[in-house]
Amino acid sequence: MNRFQSRKMTQMSQSEIRNMSLECARVGGINLSQGICDLKLPDILAGSAYQAILDDHNHYTRFDGIDLLREQIAQKSMKFNHIQVDAKKNIIVSAGATGAFYSACFALLNPGDEMILFEPYYGYHEATLIALDIVPVYATLTPPEWDIHFDQLESLITEKTKAILINTPSNPCGKVFSADELEKIADFAIEKDLLIFTDEIYEYITYDGKQHVSLGSLKNAAERTVTVSGYSKTFSITGWRIGYTIADEAMTALIGSANDLIYVCAPAPLQHAVAAAISNLTDDFYAEMRIGYQQKRDLFCGMLSDVGLTPYVPQGAYYVLADMSKIPGENSKDKAMWFLKETGIASVPGEAFYKDTVGKTLARFCFAKDIHMIEKACDLIKTNSKKWL
Ligand SMILES: Cc1ncc(COP(=O)(O)O)c(C=O)c1O
Repeated sequence: MNRFQSRKMTQMSQSEIRNMSLECARVGGINLSQGICDLKLPDILAGSAYQAILDDHNHYTRFDGIDLLREQIAQKSMKFNHIQVDAKKNIIVSAGATGAFYSACFALLNPGDEMILFEPYYGYHEATLIALDIVPVYATLTPPEWDIHFDQLESLITEKTKAILINTPSNPCGKVFSADELEKIADFAIEKDLLIFTDEIYEYITYDGKQHVSLGSLKNAAERTVTVSGYSKTFSITGWRIGYTIADEAMTALIGSANDLIYVCAPAPLQHAVAAAISNLTDDFYAEMRIGYQQKRDLFCGMLSDVGLTPYVPQGAYYVLADMSKIPGENSKDKAMWFLKETGIASVPGEAFYKDTVGKTLARFCFAKDIHMIEKACDLIKTNSKKWL
């Protein structure tokens, strides 16, 4: 340990996703571990960003985001998410959904407060809580449908439980929560007086006609819900760092102050470009994206079934958890490393998504890659499958 390392850093480990990406680069493999979509961004984004720089939108913006972008997000949220939103009162634009979630937790919770987190979870959610001394309390979704167990939720409640976090569509398991499940969660949160955080960054990526439902659209839940989303995934701009929160006026004011103090603002020209893209892209863009990802999901999951690595076929987002029981190794890290060495394909060990060893036979693959890359990965896995079949 470095003598200058903070105590906080000793509580956090380098993300397993980054580790696998480094290992993958070392062996020159195909990286299906990191959730980077290497798809081309819609043309309007690049042009508008360039123009915004030429037009000298290169300076700090309002702490809560430029009017134009908040207005576009408000319109989109009313139309697509069915959430009642006033652009002036309910939106904070932040440095990605990550910055939005961090600002919201910073603004609304105290050290020692407990938040219920469903596992398998997204590691950065847990990392944010640890950074802020908020205590994650784990509830388990059970496959294949990734069911919620309300009796377990009930048993986790203490006087310190202040919030519950939903991620729909979910990374890593691809669950898309139904309206019925969300209503039950909302009722539970109301009964226990909990804040609800809902990360909906994959809101446009759902399959087989499954509809995304926003918890914030449920009337009885809106006043206690902070919706977190952004454009990293929808527009394939993970490096742009444009995300936002939607919450009631009082919470929004607090989240805005936190966002101002921590991030100052989101990148100015890129806010302009995202606003232009939201207003210009038609429903066809979103439909085509969905179809494209569904083709990749079907191709990749079909291959996994064929080679005995049974997939939990996702209903949304662009990851798949696969059963790696047939792969040699004591735990998911050993298995993922063996798999990378033998096939040249990097995945994320399943234990990265669980507090304990539940994920030890799982691996997560990301299929947000160029179709030729997915085909190549499928070929490599198939060719090598006699090593474990
Ligand atoms: C569930 C979830 N939330 C948030 C993010 C990050 O979003 P952003 O790039 O907007 O910070 C990711 C990225 O993988 C994610 O999977």
